Amino acid sequence: MEASAPARVSRRFPWYQRLVRPVLFRLPPERAQRLAERTLACAPLWRAYGATLRVDDATLPRSVAGINLRNPIGLAAGLDKQCAYLAALGHLGFGYVIGGTVTYHPRPGNARPRLLRLPERESLLNSMGFPSEGLQAAVTRLRNLGDRPAKVFVSIAALEEDEAVACLRALEPLVEATEVNISSPNTAGVRRFQEPAALGGLLDRLNAARAKPLFVKLPPYDDDRGRDAVLGLLRVCLRAGVAGVTAINTVPRESPSLAVERGGLSGRAILPDMLRIVPELRREAGPGFVINASGGIATGDDAFRALQAGADTVQLYTAFVYRGPDVVNQICRELAVRLRQQVGR
Ligand SMILES: Cc1cc2nc3c(=O)[nH]c(=O)nc-3n(C[C@H](O)[C@H](O)[C@H](O)COP(=O)(O)O)c2cc1C
Repeated sequence: MEASAPARVSRRFPWYQRLVRPVLFRLPPERAQRLAERTLACAPLWRAYGATLRVDDATLPRSVAGINLRNPIGLAAGLDKQCAYLAALGHLGFGYVIGGTVTYHPRPGNARPRLLRLPERESLLNSMGFPSEGLQAAVTRLRNLGDRPAKVFVSIAALEEDEAVACLRALEPLVEATEVNISSPNTAGVRRFQEPAALGGLLDRLNAARAKPLFVKLPPYDDDRGRDAVLGLLRVCLRAGVAGVTAINTVPRESPSLAVERGGLSGRAILPDMLRIVPELRREAGPGFVINASGGIATGDDAFRALQAGADTVQLYTAFVYRGPDVVNQICRELAVRLRQQVGR
């Protein structure tokens, strides 16, 4: 590892938490999100802002499935569903950003309300159900992306085999890697591919069409039966020769406050689930197979624990909503310090 000045954990004024979040959190969650997206539409602003934050520490770069990342922190799928703000998000320090989940046809998603905040647990409950402008809109946006400060991946939904293959063929040339989502708890169609034979068939089709790394996003589990099922899916992924898996998607929960009365829990509340599941996946997969850990990551310590548990990269979504645009750089600074302590430098 080449020598570089050690990153320092310095705290900037938490302007997002103190000034912006209180205003955003007075609005209904989806309205707040639209407002935040308006600011993300101005990529040059975030390029200038990001330049003041950059953390370049020799402990952070990773090569994952042959892709060189400046750090192991990824933006999880779902925040930029339409691939509209990936340049701005990339400027905020991520090693990679995932656009989507993109569906072949435009879809309105589920009825509202479909996004709830649980601030006391720094968590969200969503039943979005893949609102998407469809494949063509995503292709156009990715073609015109311009700046790519972070590596760009895309998430596609497996609703129908043919549609997933069409999405992969059209989007893969525009990105570094694809993640196929078989685990959204909010869309009945994708759960079909949680059956091993169906997943095997889908991966055969995607393998025949792809030239770049493919990741499969797995669901969480909370009992022995669930573990057997997910480890079974992992074995299908290993046999199919995909680059790796992302674990976990949101954790299913019922809630009368959601129009469809059930959704997926994300954020700090599911960090223990992720930290329990990732080592079990690593034990089954052995070394060399990529595991991207997603679920409740909000600090450098969380990221460090996920990497220690066997992950190669970590992804976050909910922490961005609660902690704002500095969160990635804060994680990178703290993570670099932990990694240097580990090797005694
Ligand atoms: C509002 C919302 C929408 C999401 N949409 C998607 C999606 O479209 N595709 C997907 O694979 N995961 C989706 N996710 C799951 C996230 O990618 C991530 O796996 C999960 O939220 C756990 O990470 P976190 O605790 O850092 O948020 C969504 C999560 C949230 C909160």
